[in-house]
Amino acid sequence: MSGVCSMDFIGSHILSIDQFERADIDHIFSVARMMEPYAHRHQVTKVLDGAILGNMFFEPSTRTRVSFGCAFNLLGGEVRETTGFENSALAKGESLYDTARVLSGYSDVIAMRHPASGSVAEFASASRVPVINGGDGANEHPTQALLDLYTIEKELKSSGRSLDGLRIGMIGDLKHGRTVHSLAKLLCCYKNINLQLVSPDALQMPGELVELLRSTGHQVTISDNLASSIAHVDIVYSTRIQEERFVSQQEADLYRGKFRLNQSVYTKHCEPNTVIMHPLPRDSRTEANELDSDLNENPNLAIFRQTDNGVVLRMALFALVLDVVNLVDKSAKPVNWYTGSRFQ
Ligand code: NCD
Repeated sequence: MSGVCSMDFIGSHILSIDQFERADIDHIFSVARMMEPYAHRHQVTKVLDGAILGNMFFEPSTRTRVSFGCAFNLLGGEVRETTGFENSALAKGESLYDTARVLSGYSDVIAMRHPASGSVAEFASASRVPVINGGDGANEHPTQALLDLYTIEKELKSSGRSLDGLRIGMIGDLKHGRTVHSLAKLLCCYKNINLQLVSPDALQMPGELVELLRSTGHQVTISDNLASSIAHVDIVYSTRIQEERFVSQQEADLYRGKFRLNQSVYTKHCEPNTVIMHPLPRDSRTEANELDSDLNENPNLAIFRQTDNGVVLRMALFALVLDVVNLVDKSAKPVNWYTGSRFQ
């Protein structure tokens, strides 16, 4: 199926991209491909019948939380969740240790998001079941990076390109954006990457990540010029100003709307098959609008293919961590309801 994994997924926490080598990523992607018929409603599996996901989101989320839940449901499991810091006992002063001891008694696996860097790892160290990081502050968002890379590989394959030699422009708040931090680390598993990092000076990619990319042999250009940076790339990866990480809204507002991509900018500066990505949510308010809705009909806009891929990727991680990969196809049945046209 793939090379020898450095990682034993069974029962493991998924906390950081630091855990993975290239063979591990290949393995996750091969299991994700196996999940596509189930995610696309061509087949049904109940391989996780009886299992419970604790979906613990202590910070705002739509797609990450729901796609973790859907992925678990599509494998036949049940989901219990808590949303928002203020609605949880953490707001009453409970420690992450106590919360982890309690919730891990109720679940077989936990997906967790929390506003503080390192908090998911701290929680995991007290958990009795595997914990998957759904975003810890400005630190990391490993499942988003995996689904992004899975998407990039698929998008490039359709035009004969590959991950080695990838040219990518990352745009926006590269200082606080956990998705770009994890994606930058993930790209270190590949060869000969050309990165254009486009941000205001104050929001540049952390120095240690730039250093890591350069020491891996990748070519990194740091700039605040959108037009020149997106001229020769395979992927434009736009991001939102992470206003919740700034000390004040006024400070965040200084940077909103600085790098706007719309159809006319795309047509003028990008190569014709440049793929447009964004982890979402895109801030569609006029003062920000980093990715204009006039790109919605552009076939190279991959943002909703990314969100679809989030389900298969998270299904793959659950199947690996709970050790049911080999049982999925054995328990498969055809679907017997109308499945719509959303995956055609
Ligand atoms: C991202 C996040 O939460 O880091 N969203 C997501 O999970 N898809 C990006 C963002 O909020 O800007």
